[in-house]
Amino acid sequence: MSNRPLNVGLIGGGKGAFIVQPHQKAIHFDGTRRVVAGALFPDPRIALEEADKWPYPIKGYGSYDEMINVQKDLPAEQRLDYVLIVTPNHVHFDPAMKAVKAGIPVFCEKPLTVNLKEAGVLVKAVKAKNIPFGVAHTYLGHWTSRFSRYIIRSGLLGEVRWVDSYYLQGWLATKVEATGLQQAVWRTNPKMAGGSGCGGDIGTHALMHLRYVTGLNVTQLSAQLETFVEGRALDDHFTIYCKLSNGAKALVRATQIAIGHKNDLGIEVNGSKGTLRWRAEDPECITIHLSNQPDRVYWRGAVTPGDGFLPKDMPADLMAEPTIPAGHPEAFHDAFARLHRCFEADVRKWQAGEKFASDGSKYANVDDGWTGIAFIEACLKSNTKKGAWTAMPTPKAG
Ligand SMILES: NC(=O)c1ccc[n+]([C@@H]2O[C@H](COP(=O)([O-])OP(=O)(O)OC[C@H]3O[C@@H](n4cnc5c(N)ncnc54)[C@H](O)[C@@H]3O)[C@@H](O)[C@H]2O)c1
Repeated sequence: MSNRPLNVGLIGGGKGAFIVQPHQKAIHFDGTRRVVAGALFPDPRIALEEADKWPYPIKGYGSYDEMINVQKDLPAEQRLDYVLIVTPNHVHFDPAMKAVKAGIPVFCEKPLTVNLKEAGVLVKAVKAKNIPFGVAHTYLGHWTSRFSRYIIRSGLLGEVRWVDSYYLQGWLATKVEATGLQQAVWRTNPKMAGGSGCGGDIGTHALMHLRYVTGLNVTQLSAQLETFVEGRALDDHFTIYCKLSNGAKALVRATQIAIGHKNDLGIEVNGSKGTLRWRAEDPECITIHLSNQPDRVYWRGAVTPGDGFLPKDMPADLMAEPTIPAGHPEAFHDAFARLHRCFEADVRKWQAGEKFASDGSKYANVDDGWTGIAFIEACLKSNTKKGAWTAMPTPKAG
């Protein structure tokens, strides 16, 4: 396998954009990937100016159409190895479809699209091309999320009974969008954000975390989408009571009006033998509670197999995932880097004509993206019926 770095093209990211920055740092983390091109802004003139101002040299394009058209005609070894889509939600579907059709792997921000119809079309296109496609559910990239997944899915805490999966923020507790702050403006506009504001933006992270850690799916839900800030067009508080595929129940909740909470994503899983707790704001450890035993706190990098709770034969790939010693803290950027690292591995396998997994175990895939949008649509449906129990759409219906 070649050790040339993978070349990445950005779609979105100019003029004070937010999430492009953690991504571009994470892309460069290992020296095996680098950003080389970008269509950074909707206005072609500004897009080129922004590319010129980028902190290291990249090839600027006036639009993502131009970038994809140029790239698709290049010989495979000169083409972008993948594109990263970091535009607002309503500009995910079009560039993603165009890149996939051009045979360029895609790492796309969440939520996948703004409606289920588009999500279904994208899933079909990705499967038809058999091409790597990742969705940026950041928090799956924490090592402790991998570890939580292992603990719950291997049954160490027994049968899952109840899950509380949440993402709490307070930054939209006032009408911030009226100040013109770009990130608030599009997130509160249904044409750009989709049918649910808070749910689409951060509720999808809480749902994905529940599914990733437990391996369970939501089968039915009862939703309350509320808007606390007067005059706001979309929900800023999202509370979903769920039935899960094993008969357990769950709360998937998100809020943007809980002053004091910053990016407080977390999960608590109550199993028949014990409880697991994890919070992204304190991401280096998980706590395990077993009946009548002292609480156990497990730190990334300091986990001892065969300690009386963990089995001796822990999965090698989990234990070996590149990491730094415990006590040198990993955080948000490391989580993004782990996702890009695993996506890179799939892209390299795909380029070599080998089977690649893209199975959702290392990063969210296009099916996970579809499920996020299906969840939002079911929540909107339930909410209009005053929280009536509503079935989750099945993939076929997409
Ligand atoms: N995974 C996470 O943890 C996480 C966190 C924040 C945001 N996000 C997601 O990332 C996306 C971007 O969010 P953000 O907060 O960075 O938004 P932002 O407003 O800061 O940045 C969006 C960028 O897209 C550009 N853009 C818009 N239309 C474009 C077009 N047609 N062509 C080229 N560029 C275009 C804008 O100019 C801007 O540079 C959203 O989908 C959001 O949901 C994910």
